[in-house]
Amino acid sequence: MSTHIAAQPGQIAPTVLFPGDPLRAKWIAENFLEAAELYSETRGMLGFTGTWRGHRISVQGSGMGQPSMAIYANELFDAYDVQTVVRVGSCGALTERVGLRDIIIANGACTDSAINRVRFHGQDYAPVADFSLLRAAVEAGEEMPLQSRVHVGLLFSSDQFYSTRPELTEPFVAHGALAVEMETSGLYTLAAYRRRRALSICTVSDHLVTGEETTALEREQTFGDMVEIALRAATA
Ligand code: HPA
Repeated sequence: MSTHIAAQPGQIAPTVLFPGDPLRAKWIAENFLEAAELYSETRGMLGFTGTWRGHRISVQGSGMGQPSMAIYANELFDAYDVQTVVRVGSCGALTERVGLRDIIIANGACTDSAINRVRFHGQDYAPVADFSLLRAAVEAGEEMPLQSRVHVGLLFSSDQFYSTRPELTEPFVAHGALAVEMETSGLYTLAAYRRRRALSICTVSDHLVTGEETTALEREQTFGDMVEIALRAATA
């Protein structure tokens, strides 16, 4: 057991899918994994282990934002020796280059968070994806019959969902950020520090330029495509 995860040693697989929403973790376990068993429900942050096409896989909720995500990522790496983490999340499009329901595979992430500024003594660090996972996810997306377009590009990991200063996002968009979410920068940083593999894949659930939003049904369908890309990449 670690502080926030109730699993016994060995109950969590070396490969973990990492959605923000614990109920998405349950949905993934029920719809993709065979013989999935709940290993933790501490604070309602559900975690399951099962198999996918013969590979042992866990799926663990991370909560929203880098502080919550970092608690679970640190414990997965340190207490359970997890080697590979693939975030499967949602994001808000920041540019018309991406459309609603598109899937973004993040090659890197910028942030407005102070977490890395503190960690790197005010210097800038460039959090990037594990290349083997990135390549496998791109290949999986090319092989699958998808409804949505797949982009490889930068995410902007914000500390605030309800920002009072949206203009501060503009320089990131001008320098290539495709969409905003709240976890990837921290995940890539922690994985690099622990020498583990991490990748973040996000579905565009809302469009901050056009104001469009996905319906619950659309979110479920595109979320499923993203989960399959993540599973194929994680087990490649
Ligand atoms: N902001 C931050 N995170 C998000 C958003 C958003 O608009 N949409 C989905 N995740």
